[in-house]
Amino acid sequence: MAREADLSSSREGLLKHGAATLSRDSLDNYSSSSELDLDELELLEGQTSPRPRGEWSPSKRKKKDNGKEKEHKRAQKAKRKGGWLRSKICWVVSAILLGGLLVLLGGFQTFVYKKPQPMDGLSPPWYPSPKGGTYLQWQKSYLMAATLVSKMSLVEKVNVTTGTGWASDLCVGNTAGAFDAGFPPLCLQDGPLGIRFADHATAWPAGITVGATWNKDLMYKRGRGLGLEHRLKGVNVMLGPAMGPMGRMPGGGRNWEGFGSDPVLQGIAAAQTIRGIQDEGVIATAKHYIANEQEHFRQAREWELPNAISSNIDDRTLHELYLWPFADSIRAGVGSIMCSYNMVNSSSACSNSKLLNGVLKDELGFQGFVQSDWLAQRSGVASALAGLDMTMPGDGLIWADGQSLWGPRLTEAVLNGSVPIERINDMALRTVAVWYQLGQDNQTLFPIPLEGNPRPNFSSWTNDKMGHLHESTDDDTMVVVNNFTDVQGDGKNFHGRLAQEIAAEGTVLVKNKDNILPLSPSGGPEHARGRRRAKYNVGVFGEDAGPNPKGPNACADRSCNDFTLASGWGSGAVEFPFLTPPIEALESTFDLDQVQITQVLTNDLPNDWSAVHGTQDLCIVFITSDAGEGFASWNHITDRIDLYPQKGGDDLVKKVAASCANTIVIVHAVGAVILERWIDLPNIKAVVLANLPGEESGNALADVLFGRVDVSGRLPYTVGKSLSDYGPGGKIMSKPNGIAPQQDFKEGLLIDYRHFDANSITPRYEFGFGLSYTTFTFSDLNLKTLKPKTLLPSPRPNATVLPPTFSTLLPDPETAVFPAGFRKLKNYIYPYLDNSTIKPEPYPYPSGYNTPQPPSPAGGGEGGNPSLYDEHVSVSVNVTNTGKRTGKQVVQVYVSFPSDVTDVSTGRKIDFPVRVLRGFEKAEINATETTTVEVNLTRKDLSYWSVGRQNWVMPDGEFTVAVGASSRDLPLQGSW
Ligand code: NOJ
Repeated sequence: MAREADLSSSREGLLKHGAATLSRDSLDNYSSSSELDLDELELLEGQTSPRPRGEWSPSKRKKKDNGKEKEHKRAQKAKRKGGWLRSKICWVVSAILLGGLLVLLGGFQTFVYKKPQPMDGLSPPWYPSPKGGTYLQWQKSYLMAATLVSKMSLVEKVNVTTGTGWASDLCVGNTAGAFDAGFPPLCLQDGPLGIRFADHATAWPAGITVGATWNKDLMYKRGRGLGLEHRLKGVNVMLGPAMGPMGRMPGGGRNWEGFGSDPVLQGIAAAQTIRGIQDEGVIATAKHYIANEQEHFRQAREWELPNAISSNIDDRTLHELYLWPFADSIRAGVGSIMCSYNMVNSSSACSNSKLLNGVLKDELGFQGFVQSDWLAQRSGVASALAGLDMTMPGDGLIWADGQSLWGPRLTEAVLNGSVPIERINDMALRTVAVWYQLGQDNQTLFPIPLEGNPRPNFSSWTNDKMGHLHESTDDDTMVVVNNFTDVQGDGKNFHGRLAQEIAAEGTVLVKNKDNILPLSPSGGPEHARGRRRAKYNVGVFGEDAGPNPKGPNACADRSCNDFTLASGWGSGAVEFPFLTPPIEALESTFDLDQVQITQVLTNDLPNDWSAVHGTQDLCIVFITSDAGEGFASWNHITDRIDLYPQKGGDDLVKKVAASCANTIVIVHAVGAVILERWIDLPNIKAVVLANLPGEESGNALADVLFGRVDVSGRLPYTVGKSLSDYGPGGKIMSKPNGIAPQQDFKEGLLIDYRHFDANSITPRYEFGFGLSYTTFTFSDLNLKTLKPKTLLPSPRPNATVLPPTFSTLLPDPETAVFPAGFRKLKNYIYPYLDNSTIKPEPYPYPSGYNTPQPPSPAGGGEGGNPSLYDEHVSVSVNVTNTGKRTGKQVVQVYVSFPSDVTDVSTGRKIDFPVRVLRGFEKAEINATETTTVEVNLTRKDLSYWSVGRQNWVMPDGEFTVAVGASSRDLPLQGSW
C-alpha cells in the first residue's frame, strides 16, 4: 500500500460551518448535587426519562454523525439552549417534571439527603497554592519568565491562563498569548500516540504496545519522534503521555493510551516518553490526574448525569499506586499536568486543593502548570485557589458557548479580590517559565505566529487547504490553514521504521506449541523448512487481517472496530497516514511460488469452510477487542464490560481450529482478552497478542511471525481466565449508584497481578509473561547494599531558590475593559470586561483557606524528597541465552516487603501486596552468551506511604528481592 496520506474518508466529515445538530442529551437544567443517591436517581429517571432502569449504556445515547468534527459537534449541540429535549412537547413535559424535581430538592431535603456521605469522605483543604520557581534547575527560566510576566497587563495574564474556546483557533486547545509583553499564543494538541487531526504525521503504536516492549530506549525514541513531529507541525504543548487510567479495571476504555497496569512500568515508560518529547522542545502533558479509571460517568453531562463519578481512594493507595507515575513524570521535568474529569473523594479533580496544591505542587514540587481536561473545570474562583493554572479549552460548563469560568470572570475575580493577585501571577509565571525551560523562546524552532503565517501549520477542523482561523466563531474569513507539512521523516529516518520496531517489540507471544513459530517464508515452521513438491496452503481468516475498504480513517476518531485494528478510539487516536494490514505483509513475505494463500477476510465463517475454501496446512486467524474514550461509542462499548473477543472472534477461532491442525491466533486488542473458550484446543498451536500496533501493523507482525526479530514483548497486564478473576474492583461501574456515582477503590493496592497473587488465583498468562524464540537462564543474583536501611528519608531540604515576586497592587479596572472599537468574535473567549465598575470586596474563601499547611516531609525536590531517589540496593544478575539464536530478555525485579510491619505512628499493621515490580531492564543477548544486568532499587522502591507520618517509611525487617522473567517466573531470590 502506498504511503500516501489517505484522508479521503475523513474528508466526508469536514465541519460545515455552523451545521451542528443535537446528538446527545444534555442535563444542563439539572441542579448539581454530589450527595444525591440511587434512590433519587430512580426518582429522576422516572420523572425525566422514559428510559427503563438499567439502560445507562452509551448505546442508548443517540448515534453521532461520523467525521472529524464529532467532538466539536457535540460541543455545539450541548450549548444550544435547552438542547436536551427535541420537541416542544418534551419541553412542556420536562418543565413540569423539572418543577417537581425542584420541589423535591427544595421541600423534601430529608428525603433527598437521607444517605450518608461517601465512605472516604471529602478531600481535605490545602491552601494557599505553592508558588513555582523554587528549584535551581528551573531558576533561569523563572527569572526570564518573571521579567516577561512583569510586563504583562492583567488581561494578558488572563489570556495565558484561559483557552480561547473550543474550536476558536486551530488546535484542540489554544491560548491567546500576550503579544505586547512578547508571549505567543500556545497550541495544545492531542495526543499520546501521534498528532490528532493532522495529516502526514506518524500513527505510532499505542501506549499499551509501548509498555509491552519493556524497552526503555524505544520508549524514549518514540517520545522523541512524537516531540519532533509535534514541533514541526507547530504544537507547543502535546497532550500526552497518558498514565491514568492505570488499569484498575481491565475493561477501562482508555487503558490502551497508557503503558500497563503497574505504577513502575507506567512511571518508567511515562518518564522516558516525556524526556523524548521535551528533548525536542515540546511541552509534554502528564494526564489524567488522577484516578480517572473508567469512561462511564467520567464527565458531568456526557453520561446523562449532572455530576462526574467520584473515585474514592485512600491516601496510601493514592501514593503507592496512582500517583507514582506522576511523580516519575515530575522528576523527568514534565512541563504540564492535566487534571481529570472525575471527582476524587467527592471533590472535582480540577478544584481539589489537596491534590493540586498539596500533593502536586508542595509534596511533588511540580514547577510546571496544571491544565484542566476539556471542560473538567467545574468552578471559577475555587479552582484557581485550588491550584489550577490553565483552563481548557476555555469554555466553562458548556462546550463552545463563549461563557468561560475564567477569561473575563478571572479578570473580575482578581479585581474584586476573590482571586489573590499572587495567584494569577503564579499561574501566568508557571506557564511562561515552562515555555522558557523547554526553549520555546527560540524562534527558529518555534516561529511566532504572524498574520498570513498562522501556527500551527494545520487545522483541527478541516482537511482542506483553506479554512477558518476561528472555526466556532462568526468570522467567515478563509485563509490557508493546512500546509500539509510532512513530518514523518524520510529515508532511514522515516519514523515508520521506528514505529515498526516498537510494534514488533510490543508483540507478545503467549503460546508456541511445537515451536510452530517462527515461520519460514516457504511455509510452515522455520525449523521444518525444506522444498516441497506441492504448494503449502496457508489460510488467513478474519476481518482483522484486512484493510478497511473505506480507508483506515473511515470512522471518526477511529470509533469503530472494522477491519484491522491498530488503535483504540477517542482523542488519543490519530488519522492514519497509511495502515499496513497484516494480509499485505503476509502476502509479501511468504514465497508465493511455494505458498498458496487463501484469504477469508470475514468473521462470518461457515462451519464447513474447508469444503468451500480448501484444506489448509496452516491457518492464521485474526480477532480483536476494541474500546475508547467516553465521548464516542461503538456497538454499545466505550469501556469494555466484558473482555471477550468482539465480532464473534471466539467462534471464528473455534471454527478455524476445528478443521485446521496448525492454527495460529493473532489478537489485536486494547488490553487483556479472555482466551478461555479455545486456548487449550489442541489445534491452537500459537497465540500472539499484538496489542495496538499503529500504522506499521502488518510489517511489524510479519517481523515477528517470520522471526526477522526475536519476539520479545512481555505482558503489561494480566490475562485472567475470567473478568471476575480480577476481583470486584476490576469491574466497570456501568450503572450509576447515585446521581454523583461513588466508586470506592476498596481493593487498595491490589489491582491486576497483585490481586491474583494475593488471592492465589492462577491467571491464564501472568503480568510480565511472554515467550521468546530462544531460551534464557538466570544465575548469580547479587544484592549489594549501596546505602544502609534507615526508617525515614532525610529531612526535607530547604528551598534553595525563592520564587520571583511581583507588585501586589491591583491594576486599574479601566485597563481591563474592552479597547474602544474592539471587534469581538462570537463565542471567542476574551479576558476583557464590559465596564470598570469592579471594586475589591470581602470574599468567603473556602473553609481551611486560612490555615496554612505545613510543607510535606516527603517534598523538597521534583518528584518528592530527593533522598527518596537515593539508591539503596544494587541488584545484579547474569542472564544466559541458552538457545540457538540472538534474543531479548526482560529482567524483572520484584520486591516483597517484610512481614509483620507495624506503623509506629498509628500502631497499625501494614499489609503489603505479595510482591511488586520495582525495576526492569531489557537485554539483547547472542546465542550461548551471558550478560550481567543491573537494576538499582531506591529508597522509595523500598518504602511504603505512612498515612500517620505523611511520609515514605522504609520498614525494618527482611525484604525479598526476586528476579526473573515474569511476575510468576522468578527463579532467583535474595534477602536484604
Ligand atoms: C478529553 C480527553 O480526556 C483528553 O485526554 C484530551 O486531551 C482532551 N479531551 C482534548 O482533546
